Amino acid sequence: MNSPRFQPGTVRDAIISFLRRQSDPATLAEIREGAEALLQRPVPNSSVRSYLNLNVPSTFIRTSLGRYQLTDDTAPERQRLLFPKSRPRLAFQRPKSAVYQGDCCDWLAEWEENSIHAVVTDPPYGLVEYTPQQQNKLRSGRGGVWRIPPSFDGSRRAPVPRFTTLSPQDIRDLGRFFYAWARVLRRVLVPGAHVFVASNPLVSYAMAAALVEAGLERRGEIIRLVMTLRGGDRPKNAHEQFPDVSVMPRSQWEPWLLFREPIEGRVQDNLRRWKTGALRRPSSDKPFCDVIQSRPTHHCERRLAPHPSLKPQAFLRQIVHAALPLCEGIVLDPFAGAGSTLAACEHAGYESIGVEIDEHYVDMAEGAIPLLANFQPNSSSR
Ligand SMILES: C[S@@+](CC[C@H](N)C(=O)[O-])C[C@H]1O[C@@H](n2cnc3c(N)ncnc32)[C@H](O)[C@@H]1O
Repeated sequence: MNSPRFQPGTVRDAIISFLRRQSDPATLAEIREGAEALLQRPVPNSSVRSYLNLNVPSTFIRTSLGRYQLTDDTAPERQRLLFPKSRPRLAFQRPKSAVYQGDCCDWLAEWEENSIHAVVTDPPYGLVEYTPQQQNKLRSGRGGVWRIPPSFDGSRRAPVPRFTTLSPQDIRDLGRFFYAWARVLRRVLVPGAHVFVASNPLVSYAMAAALVEAGLERRGEIIRLVMTLRGGDRPKNAHEQFPDVSVMPRSQWEPWLLFREPIEGRVQDNLRRWKTGALRRPSSDKPFCDVIQSRPTHHCERRLAPHPSLKPQAFLRQIVHAALPLCEGIVLDPFAGAGSTLAACEHAGYESIGVEIDEHYVDMAEGAIPLLANFQPNSSSR
């Protein structure tokens, strides 16, 4: 008797699920065996072959050796190809911090296991906005993915990346990149290490799903209340015809995803052994809260570190303070930019490490960290 037919999509899901677990491309026979193991029943060779053939190149890539891999799995590789390749190198050191120049995924793959106690980072959400091509366009004022807004009321507005230009494929690439990033990040984290990742309402769902899939534990989301320059505009070139319309809501908040490397035993056990697993209170009578009133980075601070995505010290210091519950351990920023996280760590007396791919920003960080660490936010920049 023939074995009962599979429900539509069952074999496809098993193939994708099997390939997602592989670090190298797999043969037809390996894929069939993998799908059978997942489905716990025989899968005909012909169904696997026809499914793979039908979906090259949209879902799968066939390598020259006749092996297959998921197209999406090439996203981290594609992002890396956009940057010139070089081994991460120690760029400079300060008494409690060090900055490496290079690709953070390469750095993470080589760094000592179980040695990082928290991560506070602000990655390139759209993947492409910090490639050399887009940075050259930004630096020469030519736009690209960066919206170069006109002068407004006599003051020049800061450029912002346009995440609305991301296609569904870009969002899938972004998910694959953050999945691969979180996998390699987990190697270096101690159990209970908290991971704070800045995001954007348009892409945060894809980033969060990728981090969960990579095995990090979701612990909530910090809402940074801040009036950004995004959204709220009337339709382009038709604002007079539609004066009462906004294309998108005017954004007044920024999500910071909060994750944790799974703990060992109870929180108290983890705190004793690894010094992590919980969050430091701002004061003994107040817990760390998930809504933080903030402001855009003040121009006085931007003058110290003219990075296009500089985060303000007043906000970062609150996040960094919470990241080490017992004030012990090392905070990592794998997308360090001008070093604002490291400056906030220096202010708190914490040890920190930064990794930054762009030499221009590494040089900026060397000068900016001590200035930002000593920066006194006043009431107008807080
Ligand atoms: C959003 S910015 C961070 C800015 C930072 N929060 C600050 O206040 O200066 C992201 C940074 O990540 C860097 N970057 C992009 N891809 C990277 C990679 N694969 N490894 C390390 N750094 C990377 C970019 O050059 C950029 O400076």
